Amino acid sequence: MAEATEAIPQAAPAASPTGDRIRTSGDSEVSTYLEIAEAREPGQLLTPAPNAPETIVVLDYGSQYSMLITRRIREAGVYSELVPWDTSPDKLSHLKVKGFVLSGGPASVYDEGAPTLPSYVVGSRLPVLGICYGMQLLAQVLGGRVAPASRREYGHAVITVSEPGNPLLHDLPATMPVWMSHADRIVEMPPGFRAVAYSDDSPVAAMADDEGHLGIQFHPEVVHTPQGDQILHNFLFEVAGCSGDWTATSFIDESVSTIERQVGYGRVICALSGGVDSAVAAAIVHSAVGDQLTCIFVDNGLMRAEEPERVVSTFREHMSIDLRHVNAADRFLADLAEVTNPETKRIRIGETFIRVFEEQARGIGAVNYIVQGTTYPDVIESASTGTSATAKIKTHHNVGGLPKDMELSLIEPLRNLFKDEVRRVGTELGLPDEMVYRQPYPGPGLAIRVIGEVTPHKLDILRRADWIVMDEIKSAAMYYDLWQSFAVLTDTHTVGVQGDGRTYGFCVALRCVTAEDAMTADWARLPYDLLATISRRIVNEVPEVNRVVYDITSKPPGTIEWE
Ligand code: XMP
Repeated sequence: MAEATEAIPQAAPAASPTGDRIRTSGDSEVSTYLEIAEAREPGQLLTPAPNAPETIVVLDYGSQYSMLITRRIREAGVYSELVPWDTSPDKLSHLKVKGFVLSGGPASVYDEGAPTLPSYVVGSRLPVLGICYGMQLLAQVLGGRVAPASRREYGHAVITVSEPGNPLLHDLPATMPVWMSHADRIVEMPPGFRAVAYSDDSPVAAMADDEGHLGIQFHPEVVHTPQGDQILHNFLFEVAGCSGDWTATSFIDESVSTIERQVGYGRVICALSGGVDSAVAAAIVHSAVGDQLTCIFVDNGLMRAEEPERVVSTFREHMSIDLRHVNAADRFLADLAEVTNPETKRIRIGETFIRVFEEQARGIGAVNYIVQGTTYPDVIESASTGTSATAKIKTHHNVGGLPKDMELSLIEPLRNLFKDEVRRVGTELGLPDEMVYRQPYPGPGLAIRVIGEVTPHKLDILRRADWIVMDEIKSAAMYYDLWQSFAVLTDTHTVGVQGDGRTYGFCVALRCVTAEDAMTADWARLPYDLLATISRRIVNEVPEVNRVVYDITSKPPGTIEWE
């Protein structure tokens, strides 16, 4: 098998391990990409800021795994950003780009209107790793040809390495399991490329030239490719020459100096919600500008039982930041009156938040900036990467709901971090575990857990039910094992028997999920006894509720919150 693969020449047709004919372009016309590449010095398109971290840019072609590629690269200590495939190069000019990864995607490269490769990618002369669609695209633009495969390849496959010396395959076994998901294949290699691995159904499971252009037909980012991390590692360190120095400490140093430069002598306010994101964002900004920062905690009347008091006391105990506590509950509830649409709720809450901050800011004097703890999943899910491949799922209030006429400029130090990265940064900054490992809580709070109209009465019912959930989850020592655990007050009434009579009470849903980040989640397999205790306590201690159901939907297709 290996011999047959090695025999695939660049200039003449040859038999593939599966018997398919592979042709190469030989002396075919050099593409415009190559012409551009030849005209430039490596990295010439890109002029990064002096303190920018080394970055691998992942161009998103719409694969469900695109975000995972970015995560895996960061886990290896190299900063990475996922951007839409049609991002213009000036949007990347602040980054010290060390290479590009082209993600997979649902299109076929030969389809009319299929996403293409921006010319600056090859033009930059930086290393490029194409994954699945990305490999086919790379092959196509560099002069090869892609066509539908006679047999689709989905799921588990085994590849054989035919060029063990290739840097991408460094330190890997001769054969290994991988995860495939493709219906097209390369039928004509671009000039200068070699197949460096193959599978039974893919004569070109991996390809390489001598210019740092690499392609793999399988997905290294998923757990079903056990050596996937090593392959990405090889691309980062053996091919792209990254130093792997992106850590929580380097992130903090870089953010602090960027914020110092941005803010100068300006005044900053920060929206503290009590969650880890805003706490870590505030701590970074505080490190940069000290007492130029004032934190404002707005009690929007949508918090859980005892939460406002706890947030304020924890902050005052652990951070010597100027903290102001504003009670604006009535105003939020008035704005939510008769609103049932989840998106309208989010937008109203977002707008009211900003208005309250602006008023507070005016009280402080000349304020120029507002800090928010927006994180990467918020940004991606609000589709602000702008890729046509990313559907708009929900308007997270801290991104999409911002009023257009906002008077303050935004500082979002965590905008490019995943939750686990935010936590590492929080710990590095010395924040207490109770803050850093607190379960995430959405900005719109209980408003998106009371289904339908939000009223003080419904909020009160939900608070009492939710308190019981949290109490039992903590008693069972499961709080830190779960990504989130909470109660939802549905707008369904059900018939029950309580005491001696029939009741027509609220149905409460229990939502407990495990997750690595909020992009995907699974419903938690809670012990039956724990479920029974929670249910029994809610119907006994919250008389307005006569039924408790457990949500057994994962994300996707569900979302974590019900609205
Ligand atoms: P979903 O429900 O979209 O939630 O699976 C993913 C994560 O985001 C939180 N979430 C929000 N956070 N504003 C926020 O600040 C919002 O509008 C919002 N909606 C959902 C949710 O709790 C989960 O952690």
